[in-house]
Amino acid sequence: AGGGEQHIEDFQFSFEGPFGSFDQNQLQRGLQIYTEVCSACHGLELVPIRTLADEGGPQLPEDQVRAYASDNFSVYDAELDDDRPAKPTDNFPGSALETAPDLSLMAKARAGFHGPYGLGINQIVKGMGGAEYIASLLSGYTGETKEEAGTTFYENKAFPGGWIAMAPPLSDEQVEFIDGHANDLHHLSEDISAFLMWTAEPKMMDRKQAGLVGVLFLILLSVLLYLTNKRLWAPHK
Ligand code: HEM
Repeated sequence: AGGGEQHIEDFQFSFEGPFGSFDQNQLQRGLQIYTEVCSACHGLELVPIRTLADEGGPQLPEDQVRAYASDNFSVYDAELDDDRPAKPTDNFPGSALETAPDLSLMAKARAGFHGPYGLGINQIVKGMGGAEYIASLLSGYTGETKEEAGTTFYENKAFPGGWIAMAPPLSDEQVEFIDGHANDLHHLSEDISAFLMWTAEPKMMDRKQAGLVGVLFLILLSVLLYLTNKRLWAPHK
């Protein structure tokens, strides 16, 4: 139903909740999907290629990161005044198609859950849902199309307004994984969305851990303060 309600599915991602963390294998599959499909149009220009080796991310071995960079991308080098194969110290290229937005921060730029009545209660219960939004978008095409001003629009249940200018990029079994992991549209959408959550928030796990240590510390401090208080006032009671 074009122009109507947005339909966002609540996917169960491994990184949700206070103890959630990225699933390294899922991030590697997402990287493969990005490389084989999305990078034809979209960029990740804020993401340094070397971070693919970082702990908590896809964590590819250093030599694989080097091979990945030079096999897949070339960048313009001002010193050489020419293109050369990319190195881990380069960032991913920007979007190849002008109308396709850069995806580096997309998972944080979009929310999956809103309201009700602007209260944001759904966001407290289900999270911001940027990754859910992307996964729902990729699996939310109805198959209807329309032409407007020379552009084709595709009906999509997750896209605000209901019609998007991006043709369905993914379909069942479009990407093959060497370990034979499930590659139906639903799984592919989930894997690429998890990867884009990582590009948008690569330090999420560090942040959660620091928060947890902070909370434990405050609990301990509260207990000590309570006991100190009791002891100080004990003689006067
Ligand atoms: C927009 C994801 C592949 C062309 C978008 C948006 C996302 C996205 C999240 C933004 C939607 C929004 O504004 O809320 C992906 C992913 C891909 C992929 C994950 C790979 C699986 C492609 C490919 C093309 C493309 C291969 C080109 C053939 C576009 C265009 C837009 C867009 C033109 C702007 C659409 C509009 O604003 O109406 N994409 N995309 N995308 N994408 Fe893709």
